[in-house]
Amino acid sequence: MESIVVQGGRKLSGSVVIDGAKNSALPLIAATLLAASGSCRLENVPDLRDINTIVHLLAGMGAAIERQGSSLNITTTAVENCQAPYDLVKTMRASILVLGPLLARFGQARVSLPGGCAIGARPVNLHIKGLEMMGARIRVEHGYIIGQAERLQGADISFDVTTVTGTENLMMAAVLADGVTVLRNAAREPEIVDLAVFLRKMGALIEGEGTHTITISGVEKLIAANHQVMPDRIEAGTFMVAAGISDGDVIIENAPLAAMGGVVTKLQEIGLLVEALAPSKEDAVLAGVAVRIRRGSAGLRGLDVKTMPYPGFPTDMQAQVMVLLALAEGTSVISETIFENRFMHVFELQRMGAAIEVEGRSAIVRGVKGLSGAPVMASDLRASAGLVLAGLAAEGETVMSRVYHLDRGYAGFEKKLKLLGADIERIKA
Ligand code: EPU
Repeated sequence: MESIVVQGGRKLSGSVVIDGAKNSALPLIAATLLAASGSCRLENVPDLRDINTIVHLLAGMGAAIERQGSSLNITTTAVENCQAPYDLVKTMRASILVLGPLLARFGQARVSLPGGCAIGARPVNLHIKGLEMMGARIRVEHGYIIGQAERLQGADISFDVTTVTGTENLMMAAVLADGVTVLRNAAREPEIVDLAVFLRKMGALIEGEGTHTITISGVEKLIAANHQVMPDRIEAGTFMVAAGISDGDVIIENAPLAAMGGVVTKLQEIGLLVEALAPSKEDAVLAGVAVRIRRGSAGLRGLDVKTMPYPGFPTDMQAQVMVLLALAEGTSVISETIFENRFMHVFELQRMGAAIEVEGRSAIVRGVKGLSGAPVMASDLRASAGLVLAGLAAEGETVMSRVYHLDRGYAGFEKKLKLLGADIERIKA
């Protein structure tokens, strides 16, 4: 088992380059299943545990996948085994993203039903309901979702709850369906826009991505295409907090500033100076720019944060902003509206001296003057990033165990922090 050891108190400086977005790369890789001919080339694919999981998933189905640096060449023409086994799905729920493409192209799928999750119940009922509305016959047997369809039919589908991967799954199902599909109350996340751009390159007819209503006219066949994965807005936000919490001065290169929704405004209100060094083009919502981050002269101020679907404040930045607010002046209330159990990091932060109480789906954060290093345990991906950030600011040594959570979504996190001057290392415990 590995641990991350941080000696707190170093001010970060220098520059860091943001990788491709995990939550964009995952649906893009699943979408390559839709190509009836040719090889897809995805560039700027981050080197992460979750990416390896989906690569294994597709390879097990018969896809040929080759990594060249940060690019993946994927050929799915020989896919014949439409299964996503429990062993892989249990390590990554986003494996469900293969369900829509498999049903659309092959008319069959056998995908393990994702089980419990550390951050909330996370059902996939809306994915299944939408596919059924498109004519798929779906049953759950022996822990597996078993789907069959002749050709999927276009349908008018309204999501009860905004779901990111649900929207992506149904988009990928609808591109090969017979007729027009309208997805209402669709998620508007930038990763959905990135997926639509790729699907269009493959020959799909999609309109309205990035709004609540996405209209897809099914086509007979899609072909392979090349695409560059958008930069990771959560990794960029995490490094912004790292700069702020360490009272450093950091240039974040390749930050998708225009796709960061409520994050930048909140960080500015808390007291960080966020300065775009290259102007962001209006039509380049998914493009990365260089951004300089440092604290303003007024220090850090507490405020309220409520997680919301995009363009609101993302739940995937909740743990990180909590750590910043733990050291801000005054009291902050953080409300988690997306996942019902995403406060596990609070109890670890308390061990480091943070004054945070959980009341239902809110956390009340009373700013303290300093944190003290302690042994802590990661409970999920974003919580683990939050704990490392706390360690950067804490006095003394923080040792975070269960590093595998971090490795799911941050490529070389401690290496990047070390290059910025952090005293951090990974050890075998
Ligand atoms: N929901 C349902 N039924 C469904 C689907 C979702 O009730 O069929 C509920 C969920 O339980 C949750 C809410 O809808 O309360 C929103 O969940 P959503 O489906 O949007 O989440 P997701 O698609 O499973 C993606 C990201 C998560 C991110 C959430 C919210 C990927 C691969 N994962 O998950 O990322 O937190 O959207 O923005 O895109 C992470 O990267 O750390 C991560 C957890």
